[in-house]
Amino acid sequence: MRVLNGTPFCRPPDKSCSLISYNLPCIPLEEQVIFPTVTKTRKCIMKITVIGAGNVGATTAFRLAEKQLAKELVLLDVVEGIPQGKGLDMFESGPIALFDTKITGSNDYADTADSDIVVITAGLPRKPGMTREDLLMKNAGIVRDVTRQIMEHSKNPILVIVSNPLDIMTYVAWKQSGLPKERVIGMAGVLDSARFRAFIAMELDVSMQDVNACVLGGHGDAMVPVVKYTTVAGIPISSLLPAETIDKMVERTRTGGAEIVNYLKQGSAFYAPATSTVEMVESIVLDRKRVLTCAVSLDGQYGIDNTFVGVPVKLGKNGVEKIYEISLDQADLDQLQKSAKIVDENCQMLESAGV
Ligand SMILES: NC(=O)c1ccc[n+]([C@@H]2O[C@H](COP(=O)([O-])OP(=O)(O)OC[C@H]3O[C@@H](n4cnc5c(N)ncnc54)[C@H](O)[C@@H]3O)[C@@H](O)[C@H]2O)c1
Repeated sequence: MRVLNGTPFCRPPDKSCSLISYNLPCIPLEEQVIFPTVTKTRKCIMKITVIGAGNVGATTAFRLAEKQLAKELVLLDVVEGIPQGKGLDMFESGPIALFDTKITGSNDYADTADSDIVVITAGLPRKPGMTREDLLMKNAGIVRDVTRQIMEHSKNPILVIVSNPLDIMTYVAWKQSGLPKERVIGMAGVLDSARFRAFIAMELDVSMQDVNACVLGGHGDAMVPVVKYTTVAGIPISSLLPAETIDKMVERTRTGGAEIVNYLKQGSAFYAPATSTVEMVESIVLDRKRVLTCAVSLDGQYGIDNTFVGVPVKLGKNGVEKIYEISLDQADLDQLQKSAKIVDENCQMLESAGV
């Protein structure tokens, strides 16, 4: 038996291990490296706020607590009682789920003071009779307002935006916050890639773990699943599946959000979106430098300027630490630029409407 960061462990099976005689489990080596290091040395110093205690926000907050990614977690919503009730409910699971994260539910931005990371999930769903443009205006107003209040209480947070329409809301948050571009990051590509990966794993009956996918562009119809960078254990999927099957999965990925909405009837997907958000936050908190597709502001890469769109980036403690400009086929590049143009036009429309 050895001790790492104060936590005893052994590599099973080790019959001589004293943990066995104490009836304690041997912890597999993989978990020892991640888990004790995370929980013991990292000391959970971060304060993370999640704005919006709806489906995505609450699920994100709960997963962040379970993973002990924050010392302090604030769940804030405009509706009284919801964040308090959900926050307390989550906190009461701590003794069983074994986390010590302090969770506060609140309607008051003073409670978010000095947050290191703020996840914005606040927004309205589309209601009957509402056009996409109406929704865009409403949610832009909400995200602008939320960002203003966050910035009144936290000096230099990293903002992770989830509210839709994603790329445009990321722009609104960045504009309102006055933060450097590398500290305002939109979540969409991780989710879109996860959906594509899940469909590929299902089709080939292989472990999800071995599937890597690259989905660029805006979140929505204009996303760009890049087949040539999508692999299973390094093997391009074009070597494993016929083109028609790949085309079907690409289409299913594009309409992945709508597929869930059609089942749910009310509301939209939240387990995979929350899990994707947590993956980004984890890379920042632990400075893991994961390479993930996120909506970031481009400065000429891919021939796109000053527009938030999904591309592969390195995420670490400073937010976006590098933007990767990968070589794309002309069709994919055209699609990415088209996607960015739609985002840009909407941002300009908001600007002229004074939102
Ligand atoms: N980027 C993505 O990939 C992705 C995926 C899923 C959902 N989303 C988006 O995330 C957002 C949240 O989705 P959801 O399913 O959690 O919705 P939801 O309706 O369950 O939750 C939204 C919450 O925001 C709160 N809210 C509204 N205005 C607010 C304000 N001014 N301040 C604070 N809170 C406010 C509401 O009270 C509600 O609790 C939506 O915009 C949705 O479209 C994005």
